[in-house]
Amino acid sequence: MPTVLILYNTKTGNTELMAKAVEEGARSIQGVEVNLVYHAKPVDLQAADAIIIGVPTYNHRMTVDIENLLTRTAVDHISLRGKTAAAFGSYGWSGEAPKHVLEILKRRFEMNILEPPLLSNYKPDDKKLQECRDLGRKVAEAVV
Ligand SMILES: Cc1cc2nc3c(=O)[nH]c(=O)nc-3n(C[C@H](O)[C@H](O)[C@H](O)COP(=O)(O)O)c2cc1C
Repeated sequence: MPTVLILYNTKTGNTELMAKAVEEGARSIQGVEVNLVYHAKPVDLQAADAIIIGVPTYNHRMTVDIENLLTRTAVDHISLRGKTAAAFGSYGWSGEAPKHVLEILKRRFEMNILEPPLLSNYKPDDKKLQECRDLGRKVAEAVV
């Protein structure tokens, strides 16, 4: 069965709310295995058919966990070429992190990117949570 990996980081829970809605949307599609995780290894990325990364922006950067994961995946020469990828995250005033993640997945890993990244200013409201569900569904539909 094709798998969708949803990997997210959060410090105050806003990106987690988004991640759970993305998961809900992806699970609404039959015939796809959906895994929602807080930590992943390069082999977990390799095993997935689609990868959705949720990352908040702190000090204009992505979290160290996600940065280290992408670095290790590149250093280990793991190929993610042609897999589907998307990114989302909560932010306060600049929100670079999800854009930066997508840029790396596109340019370094040659993944098929769904753009633009889905951003929520602080806590996602009902409209934003619906957009998160739509994103999860769209990515899951791309791999069935
Ligand atoms: C120390 C600190 C630094 C932050 N730096 C940024 C920043 O550079 N750009 C931005 O858009 N938001 C910034 N924020 C706001 C967070 O991205 C925002 O609070 C977001 O909702 C956190 O998501 P989370 O609940 O998933 O951790 C910062 C917040 C804190 C506490």
